[in-house]
Amino acid sequence: MKILLLGSGGREHALAWKIAQSERVEKLFIAPGNAGTSNCGERSTSGRSAIAENVNMKADDFEAIKQFVVEKGIDMVVVGPEDPLVKGIYDDLKADVRTKNVPVIGPSKAGAVLEGSKDFAKGFMQRHHIPTARYETFDGEHLQEGLAFLETLEAPYVLKADGLCAGKGVLILPTLDEAKKELKEMLGGMFGNASSRVVIEEFLSGIECSVFVLTDGDHYKILPEAKDYKRIGEGDTGLNTGGMGSVSPVPFATKEWMQKVDDRIIRPTVEGLKAEGIDYKGFIFFGLINVKGEPMVIEYNCRMGDPETESVMLRLKSDIVDLFEGVAEGNLDQRSIAFDERAAVCVMLVSGGYPQEYKKGYPITGIDQVNGSVVFHAGTALKDGEVVTNGGRVIAVSSYGKDKEEALKKSFTEAQKIKFTDQYFRRDIGKDL
Ligand code: AMP
Ligand code: GLY
Repeated sequence: MKILLLGSGGREHALAWKIAQSERVEKLFIAPGNAGTSNCGERSTSGRSAIAENVNMKADDFEAIKQFVVEKGIDMVVVGPEDPLVKGIYDDLKADVRTKNVPVIGPSKAGAVLEGSKDFAKGFMQRHHIPTARYETFDGEHLQEGLAFLETLEAPYVLKADGLCAGKGVLILPTLDEAKKELKEMLGGMFGNASSRVVIEEFLSGIECSVFVLTDGDHYKILPEAKDYKRIGEGDTGLNTGGMGSVSPVPFATKEWMQKVDDRIIRPTVEGLKAEGIDYKGFIFFGLINVKGEPMVIEYNCRMGDPETESVMLRLKSDIVDLFEGVAEGNLDQRSIAFDERAAVCVMLVSGGYPQEYKKGYPITGIDQVNGSVVFHAGTALKDGEVVTNGGRVIAVSSYGKDKEEALKKSFTEAQKIKFTDQYFRRDIGKDL
């Protein structure tokens, strides 16, 4: 079959790597992709050469995507990032007679609202009795009520812009005064329309963990969990980034803990979506926090995590395309899923300066020296046949190990072989677990 994968980051390279391993795939297109997704998935055993090809098309250019799907006879569209989902790519393809029968792995616009609106997500959890922090939502006309609600909470204070803010819309403030000031600024347009409504919630203290589920709307499969490292600096200091590394499995996510997650969070979510008539065929990312042994939901995302995918895909032994077909056909319960018992980790190499200003276009050397780890490209591009930096997060070095220590040692060793100007990575990924 022919698959079109949308996106361009490390998550998409990891998905492409896994999809390309499926014998069912004849051709994989990635739009727009990066230097790593281009020509990935060589199959020397079957004599076929690269099965993957980049397409110069934006992941949210629906017209171009539909045209491409028709022209190339694409059998399935897999959506990596949230943007096209929140904008309604699923519904757009379904509404067009030419593409309405092409399965999309990713929820409808109504389902993507779980990520696209924090207020919706909180209301959904309340309706379905899913454990989460106590909250209220306020708009600009209810600033006074918002300020009064803040006074009922204890420090630190959590303010969340309702809409998508490229990961920047959550503020955690140490004092009531700062929280009040920021609430006024957020409602005053700090994040534009995205903060025209603000969710104020109770602060939860604990360790976070990302749990991923693939669902066909009726059934679901739970993928390996992972922990990501969001801050730029070692010891979890400095600014938030897209994620500096990930580790799977997560030691505190024991069988008993995951059973609680399944019973109290996953099943009520999938059943809740169905009960509310929301079409959801794709990944659900549960951002969880372990509060004194009890799992609670911090956020939902309507896609896989990045950089979690770069370790989770290593641990998925099953054919991912078989699972995607189960999603498309509504018989995911009849598909099998198996995991690699080894640990898998990823260490992200970033551009100096990230997550603030950084330069692009530096040549990257040493990728071909890496031995025994899997290199996933994130912000890379090809320039005159040479791989150059093209983003803040540049390359993920993913490794297996009998335990996370062994896997991390491998990633740290191999990461040092990859060189570009101002390259930086955190050397303490996984050390706190
Ligand atoms: P979100 O975009 O909702 O995942 O929030 C971003 C980050 O803010 C999370 O990964 C948490 O580290 C932190 N956070 C969000 N909500 C809370 C909360 N209620 N209590 C503690 N930390 C939170
Ligand atoms: N790693 C967190 C995210 O993908 O949102």
